[in-house]
Amino acid sequence: MARKCTVPAVRTRKVVDGAEPLVMVTAYDAPGARMVDEAGADLILVGDSVAMVVLGYENTLQVTVDDIAHHTAAVSRAMPSSLVVADMPWMSFHVSTADTLANAATLIRAGAGAVKLEGGRRRLPMVEALVAAEIPVMGHIGLTPQSVNAMGGFRVQGRSAAAALDLVAAAKALAHAGCFAIVLEGVPDQVAAMVTGSVDVPTIGIGAGPDCDGQVLVFHDVLGIEQNIRPRFVRRYADLHSEGVGALTRFADDVRSGSFPSAEESYRLSDEDVESLGLYGGV
Ligand code: KIV
Repeated sequence: MARKCTVPAVRTRKVVDGAEPLVMVTAYDAPGARMVDEAGADLILVGDSVAMVVLGYENTLQVTVDDIAHHTAAVSRAMPSSLVVADMPWMSFHVSTADTLANAATLIRAGAGAVKLEGGRRRLPMVEALVAAEIPVMGHIGLTPQSVNAMGGFRVQGRSAAAALDLVAAAKALAHAGCFAIVLEGVPDQVAAMVTGSVDVPTIGIGAGPDCDGQVLVFHDVLGIEQNIRPRFVRRYADLHSEGVGALTRFADDVRSGSFPSAEESYRLSDEDVESLGLYGGV
């Protein structure tokens, strides 16, 4: 069994220091977590993307702390070596510090080793409070899906010089507040490189080019389970949707033709019991 990936081990993983890039993949249930873990990912993110790729919502705003706790518990029951990071849903870290701490504690008690929260400098008091309570925090800046309404859609961020400098400042502030890693989502490659070079904690990119200290993708995107949306930053490594539909169609055909189940796939009484029950051939 691989050694458990820890927060301190992640915190020092800077590519500039010769480290291998970090690999993070989302997972939302035990079999998914086992697959990601067996593939050797350093981190499993129980993302609020569960809202869109599993629960069928249009955005991530609908999931609650209880939803994420439920999925985090399922992932952690797989006992992965990867570090389990649970996403703090929208409005779970916006109201008060006490509220934020209680919500993060629920996710840690569900089995997470760290939490992730979206947002820059406005979230610093919450990050500081969590770190002071010994809860490791991963930051998330750039295209933050929980800001979909404020951003007017899922839009690439940091496209102007001022916006790029703002992201650099936000990353520095988050690192200073104690974040052990920062997700950079939906920003131009050059901006991601600037941010990555300006902080001594690792950046983990999604739609942020090759110069981050790691990369994260959503499980369903990597495996081609979800066919509806395909952002340009996704590389598909399988087409499980088509393969799954093919397999399910063959099952339906076999049921309808009577070829499933076969004798080998069925349980039989002994001849003696058949006789004592007065059952005859064809049973
Ligand atoms: O919820 C999620 O899956 C995420 C990743 C896209 C970083 O936040």
